[in-house]
Amino acid sequence: MKETVLSGMRSTGKLHLGNYFGAALNFIKMQQEFNCFFFIADYHSLTTHPNPSALKANIKEMLATYLAVGLNPDLCTLYVQSDVPEIPELYLLLNMIAYKGELEKTASFKDKVRKPGQTVNAGLLTYPVLMAADILIHRANKVPVGKDQEQHLEMTRNIASRFNRLYQKEVFPEPTAFNFGEALVKVPGLDGGGKMGKSEGEANAIFILDDEKVNTKKIMRAKTDSGPTEVNSAKPVEIENLFQILSLVSDANIVEKFDTAYKNCDIRYGDLKKQLAADVEAFVYPIRQKANDILNDETYLKEIMAKGAEKARISAKETIKLVRAAVGIDY
Ligand code: ADP
Ligand code: TRP
Repeated sequence: MKETVLSGMRSTGKLHLGNYFGAALNFIKMQQEFNCFFFIADYHSLTTHPNPSALKANIKEMLATYLAVGLNPDLCTLYVQSDVPEIPELYLLLNMIAYKGELEKTASFKDKVRKPGQTVNAGLLTYPVLMAADILIHRANKVPVGKDQEQHLEMTRNIASRFNRLYQKEVFPEPTAFNFGEALVKVPGLDGGGKMGKSEGEANAIFILDDEKVNTKKIMRAKTDSGPTEVNSAKPVEIENLFQILSLVSDANIVEKFDTAYKNCDIRYGDLKKQLAADVEAFVYPIRQKANDILNDETYLKEIMAKGAEKARISAKETIKLVRAAVGIDY
């Protein structure tokens, strides 16, 4: 039997090239090999009270983008968290065995609490329990997460084994982090710093659904230096970053052409950026078109959501039945 892989995408809306190459591309491959559940974590985003109409638009946009990049609802189960009522039921039951102390010790929680002016709601404290419910509801074995989510996954394992021990039943497996395929790519940002990311500021990330003008402007403004002065010198980080992004969206011979120009000290950064902007556009254009077509077809989107929820609920109901029986809620 195929192993079960589950991944949750935070419903923060737009996907950037980092999300695409670092996550979505792997999902597309995984859906062929595993029993995959991919969902949009809309309940999780309520910890920060997003504007209701923005939330609604975000969910649809994310769903359309994931479909446009190649998630196939016939191969995987693609759904929205709040469409599966068994998840909040499991969340409630798991909250009975999650300790306040362990939740308070979570790094992500401590970070939030430290921020000035932050009011701390119970949803924020129990965020990892909801994540555990997301994973355990399908008794998933493998969870593709980055380093920042490792601690949450460890908490999921603790909660799973605690439940099994307390009720003397092997209901849940202990899920592990999953690295699929080759070494994970880290897509750098445009600001000369580390990775491309939403939290690193708007100008740093290239969003797939943004129009050509916006993306080109960002790329043309990307950080560069005054240019190489010595033949065959090493590239500073901000230039290396642009080359790395170029190598993801351009042909090898184009990358080589600019690389040679850099080595010979006759590179013009303006040309490099123009090329990058053109190749980024060529790369994202078909995805954006497809996503927009999907977004304009409300009936199709609703159908996909309903079909995903139905598939997800089959597996969720099986788990809830076992959980209720273990706890004694089966009068
Ligand atoms: P963001 O908040 O910047 O959109 P997240 O931290 O929510 O990104 O990550 C969502 C997924 O995308 C994760 O699987 C993460 O590993 C991947 N990801 C995000 N940024 C990058 C990046 N720059 N390079 C590679 N993968 C990335
Ligand atoms: N907490 C994850 C993040 O911030 C999103 C998430 C919610 C998730 N539920 C999940 C990830 C279940 C994996 C499995 O990115």
